[in-house]
Amino acid sequence: MTLRHFLTTQDWSRAELDGLLEQAAAFKRSRAGRQLEGKAIALLFFNPSMRTRTSFELGAHQLGGKAIVLAPGKDAWPIEFEVGTVMDGETEEHIAEVARVLSRYVDLIAVRAFPKFQDWSVDREDRVIHAFARHATVPVINMETITHPCQELAHIQALREHLGADLTGRKYVLTWTYHPKPLNTAVANSALLIATRFGMDVTLLCPDEDYLLDPRYMDFARQNVAESGGRLTVSHDIESAYRGADVVYAKSWGALPYFGRWDAERPVREASKHFIVDEAKMALTNNGLFSHCLPLRRNVKATDAVMDSPACIAIDEAENRLHVQKAIMATLAGQG
Ligand code: CP
Repeated sequence: MTLRHFLTTQDWSRAELDGLLEQAAAFKRSRAGRQLEGKAIALLFFNPSMRTRTSFELGAHQLGGKAIVLAPGKDAWPIEFEVGTVMDGETEEHIAEVARVLSRYVDLIAVRAFPKFQDWSVDREDRVIHAFARHATVPVINMETITHPCQELAHIQALREHLGADLTGRKYVLTWTYHPKPLNTAVANSALLIATRFGMDVTLLCPDEDYLLDPRYMDFARQNVAESGGRLTVSHDIESAYRGADVVYAKSWGALPYFGRWDAERPVREASKHFIVDEAKMALTNNGLFSHCLPLRRNVKATDAVMDSPACIAIDEAENRLHVQKAIMATLAGQG
């Protein structure tokens, strides 16, 4: 039997995603479930987290399992991912051993590994999580690399709770927002994937063409709308993008052509602070919902008034991380 991982939602059929969301909704109604009884998950964090760590640890506990948190390079040995390298630098052990040893201890391995932000042609290969998937003999879960599939499911669950199960044709704006630092494109890639997968009328709003997402994800989104009956539009015009929107999802990200030379990107980013989500922009929407994956810098990415308004469902989305991840863990641990 082929081992099933949860690396990207694109590997899962729409029926399978619906199944995960139904199971997540059941977990939200009732905590009952012992699907991880006697089982364990290793959570490897190469980058910081609040929601992901808390919700995975708690979810494993609620399912009767045990979570072991490791921060390679901090409280665990630094790991080498290059093949055939002479390991005479900082790394102490190779992924070939790490993934196989952990697989003898635990039933699931979850990994958070952000891009290095120096060379997108390297970062887009997503080497860390693929190396875990290649060497592990247990299922591997993506806790955010260059996509964030757990966030996708939590997001779509929150949208369904507020707009109904059928999201087809709903106008969805994924808007770039200012942040003082160039951030990961993962959540933006993921928002594009999941909103197009569920047939929404998606507008990607960003300052200019340099802020378009990687062609791989733009192409997936085009394929998704062809299958789901949705739409995909790119816009650099704030007013027309917001007008009539049912959903505004905000995220900041670094422009891909500037990876490794961020000083050159800074002037463009600094000139785009007006992309902040505020009351005036939300007033253009169709009483639209607002969300963000969190963490969010208030009055930089979105105003206090937007964050504190009834339209903001970011807390619901954050809660749903717990439920969808329980569904993912229960499903993957039940293989074989
Ligand atoms: N949204 C999200 O993944 O939050 P953390 O970075 O706190 O885990």
